[in-house]
Amino acid sequence: MKVLVVGGGGREHTIIWKLSQSPLKPELFAAPGNGGIAELATCVDIKATDVEGVVRFAKEKQIDLTVVAPDDPLMLGMVDRLEAEGLKAFGPRQNAAIIEGSKVFSKDLMKKYGIPTAAYEVFDDSEAALAYLKTVSYPTVIKAEGLALGKGVIIAADYGEAESAVRDIMCDKVFGDAGSRVVVEEFLTGQEVSVLAFTDGKTLCPMVSAQDHKRAYDNDEGLNTGGMGTFSPSRLYSAAVHEECMKQIFLPTVKAMNKEGRPFKGVLYFGLIMTKNGVKVIEYNARFGDPETQVVLPRLKTDLLEIFLAVAEERLEEVDILWEDNAAVCVVLASGGYPKKYASGLPISGIREAEQEAGVTVFHAGTKRDGDTLLTAGGRVLGVTAVSGTLDEAIKKAYQGVSKIHFDNMHFRTDIGIKKEGI
Ligand code: AMP
Ligand code: GLY
Repeated sequence: MKVLVVGGGGREHTIIWKLSQSPLKPELFAAPGNGGIAELATCVDIKATDVEGVVRFAKEKQIDLTVVAPDDPLMLGMVDRLEAEGLKAFGPRQNAAIIEGSKVFSKDLMKKYGIPTAAYEVFDDSEAALAYLKTVSYPTVIKAEGLALGKGVIIAADYGEAESAVRDIMCDKVFGDAGSRVVVEEFLTGQEVSVLAFTDGKTLCPMVSAQDHKRAYDNDEGLNTGGMGTFSPSRLYSAAVHEECMKQIFLPTVKAMNKEGRPFKGVLYFGLIMTKNGVKVIEYNARFGDPETQVVLPRLKTDLLEIFLAVAEERLEEVDILWEDNAAVCVVLASGGYPKKYASGLPISGIREAEQEAGVTVFHAGTKRDGDTLLTAGGRVLGVTAVSGTLDEAIKKAYQGVSKIHFDNMHFRTDIGIKKEGI
């Protein structure tokens, strides 16, 4: 069986690593892949957003299943195009991927179906938004409508910050068309937990919970990033919280999407916040999270390929998905300067020592090969992942792995896996 994974980050490396363990022994391809993926799959030089390029390749190679991992190709309708050519794909169609692609859509969906989320107002006119922002309490949250590479959310401490956010998004269009509308949202406090779920539109199977460290520096200081590390499970996500989420959030979301004529197939990612008034949805994503995937999939006992096929063929009900009773931690090694300016093309050493001596698995996020040398090629470079019986053991093991790896200006947080109450 031939399987193509679209994307080239740490998430895709983890998916391919897991697929490579499948008893179905798939022949693996990645578009475009990266320096680590190249050890497990044939990397083809097609961009993840090149819909026609991917469709052409999948047809020519007679790919049996294409897994579309990142958000942009999903929003561009890559799954729809593959299916139109009679090819099997894992991921939501465009009309369902909108649950991530449009904040206005997702907020309106939650309001209509009574799914708990922050109170909000939508504006398509900057003057009206500014007039409203004079009446709200601070901090308040301003979100650009569309995909903005995870940067379209501004937490404004006062009216001045809110005003410049609205001007940037709506007048100067710093996020392009993603900023034609803004959502102004109530600021919620509490810890955030991510729960990803497989769904074929009929059955929903949540994965084990995870927590992400988004800020660049220790103690959640510095700029927001794509994620500096993750751990699984969350210490806050108890069986009782899970029950509440299934009843109030997960199943209602799947039903709501069906009612709207937008059945969701693939991975639905619930970004949750544990507030004093119960669990609320901060955001939905239409895909696996990065770097949540790096701590969730290593804990999966069931064959991932079997699950992907069952979702694509709408028979997820038949699969019994099992998880290890253990814990995982992923520490991201980033290029110094990230998420701002950073250098690329720096040689990386010590990955083999980390894997052999510390027993970690190193997932590549931004790397490329130059002959025998592995070079940095992105802001987030590697995700050092450790699995162990407890979170404390996994944290220790992950940092033992980190200590073996080197590249110039390497930056990482030293507190991954530890979350202080209230942050
Ligand atoms: P989003 O792109 O909607 O996930 O937002 C990115 C991040 O902004 C979230 O993970 C939160 O940390 C923060 N955020 C978003 N909405 C809110 C809110 N209503 N209250 C507090 N923080 C928020
Ligand atoms: N780690 C957050 C995301 O994948 O959107």
